[in-house]
Order: sequence, then C-alpha cells, then structure tokens
Amino acid sequence: MAAVAAAERRLSFSNITALAPMVRVGTLPMRLLALDHGADVVYCEELIDIKMVQCQRVVNEVLQTVDFVAPDERVMFRTCEREKDRVVFQMGTADPDRALSVARLVEKDVAAVDVNMGCPKEYSTKGGMGAALLSNPDRIEAILTKLVNGVSIPVTCKIRILPSLQETISLVQRIEKTGVTAIGVHGRFKEERPRHPIHCDYIQAVAQAVSIPVIANGGSLDLVKTHADIAEFRRLTGASSVMLARAAMWNPSVFNSGGPLPVETVMEEYLKYAVQYDNHAFNTKYCLCQMLRDKVESPLGKRVQAAQTNAEISDAYGLSEFHQQIQEQLQSRRDALQGGDPS
Ligand code: FNR
Repeated sequence: MAAVAAAERRLSFSNITALAPMVRVGTLPMRLLALDHGADVVYCEELIDIKMVQCQRVVNEVLQTVDFVAPDERVMFRTCEREKDRVVFQMGTADPDRALSVARLVEKDVAAVDVNMGCPKEYSTKGGMGAALLSNPDRIEAILTKLVNGVSIPVTCKIRILPSLQETISLVQRIEKTGVTAIGVHGRFKEERPRHPIHCDYIQAVAQAVSIPVIANGGSLDLVKTHADIAEFRRLTGASSVMLARAAMWNPSVFNSGGPLPVETVMEEYLKYAVQYDNHAFNTKYCLCQMLRDKVESPLGKRVQAAQTNAEISDAYGLSEFHQQIQEQLQSRRDALQGGDPS
C-alpha cells in the first residue's frame, strides 16, 4: 500500500508545461509565481554539485522554508511546502557519486532531480558538466543509473541536440534505458545561441524514438509568446510536454490559460514573493530587470537598478507598506519562536 501511495505521488512529466531551469531566474519567488499562473512543474536554477554537497539542510521556521546553506552562510537553494510536489532540482554534475550525494541531500524536499546536459557555458563545460556530457555518453549513463537506483523520486535530464539526427536518437535511447522518467530536449546544437531558430524536427524525431515523455524546449524566441502558443509548440514538436525559459522570464503569466497579465502586475506579484521569502536583493533586481526588458532604462528601471535592498525595490514599486507589514510578521514569528510562544 505504501509503495502504491508513493507511486501515486510521483511527479508526472506527461502533458505538462514547465518553468525551465534558469540560473539566477529560477529561484523561489519565480517558481511560486509560475505555479500561480498555471505551470505544472517548476525547475530550479542549475546548482553545481561541488557547492551543494557542502550545504547543510536547515529548516527556516521564520520564513517557513527549507534552506540549503553553504559554509559561508549563503543560501544556495530555498524551497517550501507549496512547491514540494512540483519542484525539480536541477544539478550540474560530472560525477556519479557526487550527484547521488546531492540528490540524497534534497530528496525529501523536492519532487524530482534533473541533470543539466545542455549548458554550453565554460563554467559548466570545463568541469565536464553541462553540454560537455553530451560527448561522454558513458558518463551520462553512469550518472543517471546511479541516480535512478539511488533515490526514490523521478530522475530526468535536459539535453541539447547532437550534430546528426542519428546521434541524437542513439543518445536518447541510451538515456531512456537508464530508467529516467523524462527527457527535456532543447532543440539547438551545442554551438547555437538562443537567437538561432530551433530544430523542431529533431525534437519530433526524439519524441518518436523513446516511450518516456519528452519535454520540448527552445521555443521562446519565435514560437511561444502566449499560453495559446504552448499547445501549438507541443503539436509542432510531437512532444508530450513543453518547457519555457525566456518567455516565462519575461512574463511568468505566459503560463496563464486566461491570457497574459500586464508585466507591471506580474512584477508586483514577483516582488511580494521576493519580500515574503527574503530573496537576495541582487537576485530580486536581476529578475525584475529581465521583466522590465526594454524599459530597464525607464525611471522605474533606474530606481530598481540603483536599489540595494528589497526595501528600496519595494519603495520603487509603491510597495513600502507591504514590505513593512511582512517585516513585522516575520519579526513576530521570530519573537514567538524565541519565547517558545506559538501564538
Ligand atoms: C538558461 N538555460 C539554462 N538551462 C539549464 O538547463 N540550466 C540552467 O540553469 C539554465 N540557465 C539559464 C539562464 C537563463 C537566464 C536563460 C535565458 C537560459 C537554458 C534554458 O533552460 C532553455 O534551454 C533555453 O533558454 C531555451 O528555451 P527558451 O528560452 O527558448 O524557452
């Protein structure tokens, strides 16, 4: 019975729309906002295994979060109950043992773990991680097999496409055999930049070649502007699911089936979560600047850029009172915890 219940709770990757992993963007406020607007699954930013293995799991009673804290006190990953059955922890790794240590560290607090096999940036590839893994299928197999056998939650990976269709298909079939639950496919070659058109035909071929769900990715630039485009992108690629990065970074209400909200509204919603969960101010600024896009040099944009704290950012958005209320709430929680008074 317990096994059946556990299986029922396993996150499904069929027919879902996901917030894609994005360094700096995919922190807790953005993930919660994406869920509010209808994303089924939310990936965290890529977190590097070497940094994660040094972290301690800390229950933050004041914020009501679970934090993974580095020796220098930096919070590397913050999560909360609300996203527990929806959040996918993405790691950067080139080492099966370290990958397993990280997966076990976060296993109780996330719904799945994912391995980044697509990042072409030097900081990733120089350690043999990210897209460097694509030319080392033995390593891919070793990492994924270790994870699948070592944790009780689903394991997935996110790849880019290889130079030929045949190589891409061989790789995904080998990946499928490791027992992963799904594969995310960013339909670009390793050398291609985000401005290049994606290769829907490759994603389509992958979707036909495996029986696990394929999550199509790479459509933000030209194919997916609104919620209605998500179904069309799914149809075009023949994939079971869709994963959005930039379209969601620019306006997370892209997941909203009722149509997108004005970005001004969404920025306020974002900021409220950032304040509530004590998000690092630099991270808050970064995400708001992505949403401001061409308005980043507007008077509001300049105030955001100049701000050093979440209080100053809140002031720029006319949310000082909200910021104050949250600080009072958090302080009274702190006081109650210190005094042992739960009221
Ligand atoms: C990314 N991407 C990315 N991919 C990944 O697997 N792990 C990561 O941490 C990141 N980080 C990241 C940061 C930012 C700011 C961007 C814009 C992108 C790649 C991303 O998940 C996705 O594959 C591409 O952006 C293509 O999808 P879209 O943008 O066309 O939907």
